[in-house]
Amino acid sequence: MCGIVGYNGYDQAAPILLDGLEKLEYRGYDSSGLAVRNGKNEIEIVKAKGRLRILSEKTDGGNALAGSCGIGHTRWATHGEPSENNAHPHISDDKNVTGVHNGIIENYQELKEKLLRHNYRFYSDTDTEVAIKLIDYYMKKYSEGPVDSIARAMTRIRGSYALVVMFRDYPDEIFCARKDSPLIIGTKEGETFAASDVPAILKYTRTVYYIGNQQIARLGKGTAEFFDIDREPVEIEPKEVKWDAEAAEKGGFEHFMIKEIHEQPKAVRDTINSIVKGNSIEFGETGISDEIIQGIGRIIIVACGSAYHVGMAAQYVFEDLAKIPVRVELASEFRYRDPLLLKDDLVIVISQSGETADSLAALRLAKEEGIRTLGIINVVGSSIAREAEHVFYTLAGPEIAVATTKAYSAQLAAVYALAIQFAKVRGTIDQQKYEELLAELGTLPGKMEKILEDKERIQWFAAKYSNAKDMFFIGRGIDYAISMEGSLKMKEISYVHSEAYAAGELKHGTISLVENGTLVVGVCTQNRLFEKTRSNMVEVKSRGAYLMGLTSYGNYSIEDTADFTVYIPKTDQHFTTSLAIIPLQLLGYYLSVARGLNVDKPRNLAKSVTVE
Ligand code: M6R
Repeated sequence: MCGIVGYNGYDQAAPILLDGLEKLEYRGYDSSGLAVRNGKNEIEIVKAKGRLRILSEKTDGGNALAGSCGIGHTRWATHGEPSENNAHPHISDDKNVTGVHNGIIENYQELKEKLLRHNYRFYSDTDTEVAIKLIDYYMKKYSEGPVDSIARAMTRIRGSYALVVMFRDYPDEIFCARKDSPLIIGTKEGETFAASDVPAILKYTRTVYYIGNQQIARLGKGTAEFFDIDREPVEIEPKEVKWDAEAAEKGGFEHFMIKEIHEQPKAVRDTINSIVKGNSIEFGETGISDEIIQGIGRIIIVACGSAYHVGMAAQYVFEDLAKIPVRVELASEFRYRDPLLLKDDLVIVISQSGETADSLAALRLAKEEGIRTLGIINVVGSSIAREAEHVFYTLAGPEIAVATTKAYSAQLAAVYALAIQFAKVRGTIDQQKYEELLAELGTLPGKMEKILEDKERIQWFAAKYSNAKDMFFIGRGIDYAISMEGSLKMKEISYVHSEAYAAGELKHGTISLVENGTLVVGVCTQNRLFEKTRSNMVEVKSRGAYLMGLTSYGNYSIEDTADFTVYIPKTDQHFTTSLAIIPLQLLGYYLSVARGLNVDKPRNLAKSVTVE
């Protein structure tokens, strides 16, 4: 969950490293550090506790550290509290090896004890210091070079890592290794970059190498060579990144989150256009053929956080349209519960980053059982994208705010397309219905734009309720799935205690928490369930709740019950999540702004959860 950057070239490294770390700060932000090799061939390290801004001030924007080769790190603490001492880079006792790390070294205690027996001393509580000193240990023990020493350390380390390392005696090179944690290499004439994610280097190059699992890289100035764990050279073809560099900038918006909320129509449009051709869907490179679709007996959707909520909504859509049984599981539960998988299951893993540790583990578990897997992924070349049998790329572009919005919406568009195609191929809808659904799918971006035009009403409401302490989101069916995502947005960026409840379940316990002024959002986009949910809203209102209603235009009777109502354009009942979520994202956003919080980087969270 940390961010790593490396630079080897002819420009001053520190400002480039700081700039890259700023793009990666979404991955972790409790401390940071830089190591730069100076003109005297010494490695200088500067670290700071707290936000990257503090490191930048401490180094005068990087100008205080001269040198054209260096590494940087922004940390989300796993081993050891956030402190300067625990911040990366870490260095071996005699300054032979300096490195940064993202991931978790599971057997670090055992390795530490081994190193202690060999007279190594430890100044931090981190697993990273152990990894760096282990590399140093092997280098000295076998009198070998960096690639050999790293490879030997890799065979001993259990867990996940992306490591970027400098060696005192190899002045013009940086070395990298990865297993289950993201790391990319970028090159251009005379310069080489390493980073946890593409936005960190997008400004400098679009030529990117996706270093494979358990591989090592040697980076010169403008060159990259790769080796496997047996130290044999491997060929990796560079890829051209298509993302627009500006997509990773705020572009005039106050926060990335509000920018990304506004980019949702485009994300959905691009994702739909990638597979809808005229009156039909073509999955093309995903490799999902009609034959495969016909052979599927059950779908299991596995994901975390908002991606899990996409799965919750997808469940209703798949079952209703394609009549295939669907289970939706939290990846962190699925991976440890010894799931009973059937040979004609399709396991769908949904993930923006493609690096979420639990989702990746769930994917691997399904593959080990010989089950067909499909990843719905936003980040090209990410671990899940590389390991899933089939991949459906969402085209949301880089998402920087920790709270997902446009990636969530693009994922929804992807699952709708899958459900529609599955329904057609399996004969549960006819051609006319198929075309109607596709036509309606195409109208979603325009309808999303309409909702965004009316955002000031939500802003006003959020400002009025910025002191809310508890909030409940209630709904039935798809509206329950919408409530779950609305509630998550509220708690993660506004720090308001909030819960999503299946509306019919309230009176089995939770309603006792409702008192005078408790804010309750009733989500009523499903015509069939409208009256049922409305009666649950009446129940909470009569116990003092202040009610916000969220429904489609036309359902005006909600105003008899709700104190404040937000309407969304009418759409097919299967697709309402895509529209109803926007006011709820805006509510979370504006409440966070009104409370003066750090919208894009909420406390304790990181964008990409690469530890379990
Ligand atoms: O990268 P992923 O889609 O796998 O991430 C899953 C969750 O960590 C993510 O959706 C998280 O819940 C978001 N912060 C929610 O806004």
